[in-house]
Amino acid sequence: MNKGKKILTITIIAFIIGSFFSVVMAADNFTNDGNDRKGKYLFRKNCRTCHDGSSAATMSPNTKTQAQWERTFKKYERLECVEEWNKRSQGELKDVYTYLYNHGYDSPQPATCK
Ligand code: HEC
Repeated sequence: MNKGKKILTITIIAFIIGSFFSVVMAADNFTNDGNDRKGKYLFRKNCRTCHDGSSAATMSPNTKTQAQWERTFKKYERLECVEEWNKRSQGELKDVYTYLYNHGYDSPQPATCK
């Protein structure tokens, strides 16, 4: 392999490794230190519109356990309604996560939205 090719190969490998890590970093977990009240508002306004049993299964914080919310938010890219999630900023999703997680089925204050 000549020198030019070697440099090119190294550059390509470095690029691939770099993009791999940025994808891993982007799939950062949500934490429950967002704004609980804002999350409730955002959930009602942007999620419950469908998830009230009309066009999607009814959903409240107490529909899932805290561990289930954690898993759901870790892999929301796979959900049927991912476009709806993508309309929200990461900060807003963190608020929604905070609300759902803090009031999950096995949380100290489980909540339902009627
Ligand atoms: C335009 C309607 C619509 C909106 C808005 C919407 N969803 Fe969905 N969602 C669906 C449909 C349809 C499905 C798949 C069928 C089902 O689960 O009822 C789904 C599936 C899901 C699932 C997987 C099913 C489950 O019970 O685990 C989760 C979690 C979810 N949505 C959460 C949300 C959250 C959080 C929001 C707000 C950011 C949201 N959705 C906004 C329509 C919507």
